[in-house]
Amino acid sequence: MKILVTGGAGFIASHTNVELLNAGYEVVVLDNLLNSSPESVRRVEKLTGKKITFYQEDLLHEEAVCKIFEAEGFDGVIHFAGRKAVGESCQIPLAYFDNNITGTLNLLKAMERYDVKKLVFSSSATVYGQPETVPIREDFPLSVSNPYGRTKLMIEDMLRDIYQSDHSWDIALLRYFNPIGAHESGEIGEDPNGIPNNLLPYVAKVAAGQLECIQVFGNDYDTPDGTGVRDYIHVVDLALGHIKALEKLNTHPGLVTYNLGTGVGYSVLDVIHNFEKACGKKLPYRITGRRPGDIATCYADPAKAKKELGWEARWGIEKMCQDAWRWQSNHPNGYRS
Ligand code: UFG
Repeated sequence: MKILVTGGAGFIASHTNVELLNAGYEVVVLDNLLNSSPESVRRVEKLTGKKITFYQEDLLHEEAVCKIFEAEGFDGVIHFAGRKAVGESCQIPLAYFDNNITGTLNLLKAMERYDVKKLVFSSSATVYGQPETVPIREDFPLSVSNPYGRTKLMIEDMLRDIYQSDHSWDIALLRYFNPIGAHESGEIGEDPNGIPNNLLPYVAKVAAGQLECIQVFGNDYDTPDGTGVRDYIHVVDLALGHIKALEKLNTHPGLVTYNLGTGVGYSVLDVIHNFEKACGKKLPYRITGRRPGDIATCYADPAKAKKELGWEARWGIEKMCQDAWRWQSNHPNGYRS
């Protein structure tokens, strides 16, 4: 089966490409390289010993996208492409709507035109907004509080509408919790532009001596140690969830929605202390004010994915930190190293 992976040079996509190739899929990557490196594609080829067809292209270029569909003849699409920084989305919402919404519309139009109706979509736990209780189940109410989250929810809504109108589509909405870690080889990993927004890459850069001190955004939440609790999931576990979702779509289930998380919550301090163990040194941190828009606690109920996909996360926080540290220390400057 030939799969188009949009945003295929990015963090989660590169790990998914490894698992796709290892499972015998043919992979075609489309990426505009706005926030990613073609080096990740080369590394995935090296790790797997298999070739990837790579197009540096933007989903905003509708005609170019159609030409790729025409030339390749895909069997399915995994759609990762999109801008993904919550804070930035509040500053430049139009860029988010353009890139994420218009880009997805162009993709969907090409899929319809070339009769490719199998889609795995990168959604996010952000669509649950401020959940009333945890663990979060897929049938919880949906709401969002920033433009990034709105694009994820809008795309989910669009896909639900498309499926309602035409049941020949097979669509999996995968709601990711907090993906961290890296491939065990230390050859591919997360490579954010500039100063990282997310906790784990920030901690890794402090451990590497590239940033001075971790800021802990608030210790007055209603959580065991007062710091925010999240469901961190190893990126390789997450990648394997995509393979399971594709297998599910091959049995024509219609539209399905799954949480991809571990079901376990760790606090900011838990993460810091586990990373200290992984890198073998004390990490400086200081408590600062809460980050606007953050919630206290977010973790998944992953039971549905286990029951229906036969998927569950295998790796815990220790392995996530060890693998993230191996990537960071092997490649202090990411793919530019
Ligand atoms: N945090 C810090 N210091 C930092 C960065 C983060 O204390 O420098 C804290 C946050 O307050 C939060 C936790 O670490 O409690 C995790 O924060 P991240 O920024 O790593 O992740 P978020 O949970 O805020 O957001 C992630 C993704 C979003 C996605 C969301 C879904 O980045 O894209 O999960 O729940 F929408």
